[in-house]
Amino acid sequence: MIEISNLYKNYGDLVVLNDISVNIKKGDIIAIIGPSGGGKSTFLRCINLLERPDNGKIIINNKNILDKDNNVNHLRQKISMVFQHFNLFANKNVLENLCLAPVTTGILSKERAINKARILLKKVGLVDKENTMPYKLSGGQKQRIAIARALMMSPEVILFDEPTSALDPEMIGEVLSIIKELKKENLTMLLVTHEMGFAKNVANRVFFMDKGKIMVDESPKELFENPQNTRLKEFLNKVLNH
Ligand SMILES: Nc1ncnc2c1ncn2[C@@H]1O[C@H](COP(=O)(O)OP(=O)(O)O)[C@@H](O)[C@H]1O
Ligand SMILES: [Mg+2]
Repeated sequence: MIEISNLYKNYGDLVVLNDISVNIKKGDIIAIIGPSGGGKSTFLRCINLLERPDNGKIIINNKNILDKDNNVNHLRQKISMVFQHFNLFANKNVLENLCLAPVTTGILSKERAINKARILLKKVGLVDKENTMPYKLSGGQKQRIAIARALMMSPEVILFDEPTSALDPEMIGEVLSIIKELKKENLTMLLVTHEMGFAKNVANRVFFMDKGKIMVDESPKELFENPQNTRLKEFLNKVLNH
């Protein structure tokens, strides 16, 4: 469903994505692991055009999204993103946070958006928070709201960039269990994470990214139990024995 070929992104002299080619299939749940600075966030941000790649193709439903005539708003309806620091609108309550994008883009009427928001708030276990301002929520609750917000557009793909890295340990589980639930909905998900147990149990593929390349693309079983790549072995040694 997403065919990426020869993708490059530079910042000045720094090559951040270095000739990435990979196919992502509908329903894939891909955990992306790797050392800091390896290009993981940039890779996700290129897929929904928060960053513009310098070269290459990203073909989604037979259309290269890097073509000049591509409609970015249309793309972002299909591909939602959830960030490490939630990025909720601080001056809007929970219900307004959920309804803003679909209503302003004309995807949903206000009434339908509110109905949908309430269904999603139930799904993430926060129905009683619809009038709450973000600053009154815990980190885990904020991230659950951010996930509900990402679902408002009924996306086909959700990109998660370290969704639990900013959370206190006791809140990580509540967010991961919601992501795990989404697996049932036939969404395609790419998830940058440091939670190796989660990557192992929930993903069907794991990418190890380092120095702007996808160095390893394997099933979690193969990647974690029988790593071959030297850099991957070093990385796993560090993160699993810290
Ligand atoms: N907007 C930017 N301007 C300049 N350099 C950037 C920018 N965003 C990321 N980088 C650099 O690109 C490299 C890859 O960053 P990133 O994709 O955030 O890696 P990761 O998410 O794997 O830690 C890093 O060296 C980072 O400093
Ligand atoms: Mg990152």
